[in-house]
Amino acid sequence: MSKQILCLPGDGIGPEIMTEALKVLEAAKQRFGLDIEVSHGLVGGAAIDKDGVPLSDETLAVAKRSDAILFGAVGGPKWDSQPMANRPEKGLLKLRSELDLFANLRPAILFPQLAEASSLKPELVAGLDILIVRELTGGIYFGEPRGVRTLENGEREGFNTYVYRESEVRRIAKVAFEAAQKRGGRLCSVDKSNVLEVTALWRDVVIEESGSYSDVELSHMYVDNAAMQLVRAPKQFDVMVTGNMFGDILSDCAAMLTGSIGMLPSASLNEKNQGMYEPVHGSAPDIAGENKANPLAQILSLAMLLRYSLGEGDTADAIEKAVSDVLDKGYRTGDIASEGCQLMGTVEMGDAVVGCLLNS
Ligand code: NAI
Ligand code: MG
Repeated sequence: MSKQILCLPGDGIGPEIMTEALKVLEAAKQRFGLDIEVSHGLVGGAAIDKDGVPLSDETLAVAKRSDAILFGAVGGPKWDSQPMANRPEKGLLKLRSELDLFANLRPAILFPQLAEASSLKPELVAGLDILIVRELTGGIYFGEPRGVRTLENGEREGFNTYVYRESEVRRIAKVAFEAAQKRGGRLCSVDKSNVLEVTALWRDVVIEESGSYSDVELSHMYVDNAAMQLVRAPKQFDVMVTGNMFGDILSDCAAMLTGSIGMLPSASLNEKNQGMYEPVHGSAPDIAGENKANPLAQILSLAMLLRYSLGEGDTADAIEKAVSDVLDKGYRTGDIASEGCQLMGTVEMGDAVVGCLLNS
């Protein structure tokens, strides 16, 4: 049976970069003979303009039936006057919660050709390839009770609850171990088990799960040290797994090591291995419609989709290699431009990736 992908370009630069990713998918189908059916839907501002809501029930139903969703980006000043509950971003949040996308995979890959763009010295980051697996639907961001209360003496007190159930830790640990198996075979679990009971349980459960993954080398690190190590010697990491809040912070820190936001893909998975794949960046309304957007984050999101939800790791490898090949040729969009490069637009960059994919 053919695999089903739902394509949701969104608004802003979303449709432009999605067009390029779909060209790459067509080329990949041709080269590898993949049996994939693509359907198309509206989300975010594009959906508000047509249906009045950022995600229609119909589109949500198609999303639930699909093996994977390729998502572009949403949001922009045009829809700022919408009530909060009807903003473009709500379409994205609704997909995450309705599909129970609890595992957020954020690679921080620095192509050696772009080492100059990093905030660190080139020798520290050249060839950097880390995957951060962040728990996305639990932890302190969702724990109850929460709020601000007034004490008897009149002083105000804010409070949140940091809670993880064993089953929540187990399922994110599984995703991380499996990702490590598909990559370099090393997993570092990040916690604060010397201070927080909830993360001591986290560590225990990760160790229990490791019994099923004897081919993965497991290590543990406290979060403060992990932050330090990420900026000191980031290449020591392969896969990192951590809770929602620590992951939020560490993944942004790791992202900056790679320089350009136009290069970073992400995935959010559920227990059925259904996933939603999207660039880390937003809809970039400042450059929308100008053929300036870098399509590589969207194309790399497609590669992740093929690897994680469709089991097509070889095709994913080939697409990532094609992206690396265009960088080797000196082709750059504006956001990653450097001296002596060949500056090109969104469409030309997409064509170049297709060319490399079909001719390597
Ligand atoms: P942004 O990521 O859209 O843009 C930040 C800067 O990076 C801009 O100067 C933009 O031109 C540049 N940029 C982003 N992607 C690029 C690409 N592929 N190629 C070249 N340059 C690129 O973030 P910003 O400006 O804070 O937000 C714009 C809109 O996007 C807002 O409405 C925001 O809510 C929304 N947003 C949506 C996200 C999503 O759909 N997942 C994530 C983040 C923001
Ligand atoms: Mg995003």
